[in-house]
Amino acid sequence: MVIDIGSGAGLPGVVLAIMRTDLSVTLLEPLLRRTVFLQECVDLLGLPNVVVRRARAEEVAGEYAADIVTARAVAPLTRLAGWALPLLRPDGELLALKGERAAAELEEARLVLEKFGVRAAEVVHVGRGKVDPPTTVVRAVAGTAPSKGRSGSRRGGRRRGGAHGRKR
Ligand SMILES: C[S@@+](CC[C@H](N)C(=O)[O-])C[C@H]1O[C@@H](n2cnc3c(N)ncnc32)[C@H](O)[C@@H]1O
Repeated sequence: MVIDIGSGAGLPGVVLAIMRTDLSVTLLEPLLRRTVFLQECVDLLGLPNVVVRRARAEEVAGEYAADIVTARAVAPLTRLAGWALPLLRPDGELLALKGERAAAELEEARLVLEKFGVRAAEVVHVGRGKVDPPTTVVRAVAGTAPSKGRSGSRRGGRRRGGAHGRKR
């Protein structure tokens, strides 16, 4: 299972769901008009492997045990790590699409990553020969024990309903 934090207009979650229909992808996005847009896209594209959920990542800590969490242009790694790592299963991976500050962000986030039990983290460049320039990704691998930020241990699904009633 993949969770895309802060999907916005669908990057990278919708593209990933189109390319990898074998993956179950949850698009996590707090803003109503964006979730409406995302749901319309999912319906139009006919993507049965996608769930759109309206919520902030920090609100759903402990409700998921995802294999992978993705995020692009959502928050600095120091903050993103605290939102993403509690959504991962042990040994799951955060893949944060970053720009040229990736290495600097990784250094700045070392203490936070340690606090959340990350056992490995690196900057990788992907898509060579497909996109120019290649995409810079921070990859952080969760520890074998549940993250300290996790408040529950449900595997692969939701524990309770999403955030309702907010409009922005
Ligand atoms: C700059 S947009 C990027 C959208 C998309 N990922 C992209 O690359 O085009 C950041 C998105 O993160 C969402 N966001 C901000 N804080 C968030 C949080 N705490 N949890 C989940 N999403 C959040 C915003 O609503 C917004 O849609």
